[in-house]
Amino acid sequence: MPETKTQQSGNSGSDGSENDAPKGLEGVVVATTELGDVRGEEGFYHYRQYSAVEVAATRTLEDAWYLLFHGELPTKTQHAEWIEEIAPLRDLPDAMVELLPAIARAGDHFIPLDALRTALSATTYSLDYRPSLDLEPDELRAEAMRTCALVPTLVTSLYRLSEGHEPVTPHPELPYAANYLYMLTGEEPDPKLARAVEKYLISTIDHGFNSSTFTARVITSTGADLGAAVVGAIGALSGPLHGGAPSRALDMLDAIGEPRNAEPWIRNAVEHGQRIMGFGHRVYKTDDPRSLLLRDVAAELGGEQYEFARKIEDTVVEVLEEMKPGRKLRTNVEFYSGVVMNSCGIPRTMFTPTFASSRTIGWCAHILEQAADNRLIRPSARYIGPPPPQPVPDAE
Ligand SMILES: CC(C)(COP(=O)(O)OP(=O)(O)OC[C@H]1O[C@@H](n2cnc3c(N)ncnc32)[C@H](O)[C@@H]1OP(=O)(O)O)[C@@H](O)C(=O)NCCC(=O)NCCS
Repeated sequence: MPETKTQQSGNSGSDGSENDAPKGLEGVVVATTELGDVRGEEGFYHYRQYSAVEVAATRTLEDAWYLLFHGELPTKTQHAEWIEEIAPLRDLPDAMVELLPAIARAGDHFIPLDALRTALSATTYSLDYRPSLDLEPDELRAEAMRTCALVPTLVTSLYRLSEGHEPVTPHPELPYAANYLYMLTGEEPDPKLARAVEKYLISTIDHGFNSSTFTARVITSTGADLGAAVVGAIGALSGPLHGGAPSRALDMLDAIGEPRNAEPWIRNAVEHGQRIMGFGHRVYKTDDPRSLLLRDVAAELGGEQYEFARKIEDTVVEVLEEMKPGRKLRTNVEFYSGVVMNSCGIPRTMFTPTFASSRTIGWCAHILEQAADNRLIRPSARYIGPPPPQPVPDAE
């Protein structure tokens, strides 16, 4: 492996260990989990024992949420009871009804994910979340349920407030995805659009030990409260290399403008060391199955943007194959998710927050799993600076 991809070797780590992990922890197994996994070479990922793509294609978001929390898909009766349990948890706590307008309008520019992490931190503080170390499993589960149910309300309310509109109270009769669109727009959505968004939301609930999930587990391993872990995970997700790409992928389509511009535009970007947003993945070295699912969803919705994206995809893959041979760069989840969300009327600034809403379910399932069998996550680093101890110079 090239030197740039590994930690420097030489001195031992601070705990005397000689075990060097590759840079970026690529391929390092850091935990066991029963929640799911990603098989990069096969282009397959699963939620517990089921193909995640099949779950997205055939079941509701609430079913997938139940599967991650309970280990099995619900029966019809269990599904109905689950919906009943979730519905009242979506309402904003009174303290947040007062605080949200100030958070939504605090900055010069509304940055939804920043607003969400601020609001969620205040929410879990106001709800008196306690260190996970001090809670019984059912108490931590109750906090997890409340958080998963509340995040969509928080993020859609923040968006509406930033646009000068009043938040929309959750619709008691609508399931998660339709209610999400309802709270965003104030109108009951077309069932076809709600189902397209639901497939996207299910497909993004969990995805192995990605950066934000790992962050949530690291914070939980300290015994901190669930709110701290989810807020930290949102921070990790906000980075463009993780969850911040779908709006950038659409920005790229806009910048390219026409199919004939695609090849020179992409060549120029890669020559200047830029990443083509929506392409490449740490684990997948073949088609990202989420991308294939969302490409089908986008195709069902149809439209010019889908046709254009399809052409650009082919050109990007060809150019990257030539300019970055052997890296196996294909579309990731972000490329078509932007197209799907745009077709369903979700504003571009809300793409990553929509991702954060469903991923909160995955984070919380991991937090519960981490807390149930916890050990502090505390690795080491290899010091590569000037050899210590050097004499401390006198102040001049
Ligand atoms: C997702 C991503 C961060 C994975 O990164 P990674 O596993 O660390 O891959 P590396 O950074 O080691 O890249 C390996 C090689 O492929 C190239 N590469 C990876 N993704 C690329 C992209 N989207 N466009 C152009 N080149 C890319 C790198 O430049 C590197 O080339 P090199 O060997 O000449 O240095 C990366 O593919 C990326 O930045 N994609 C664009 C952002 C994106 O879509 N994010 C959403 C992820 S779901």
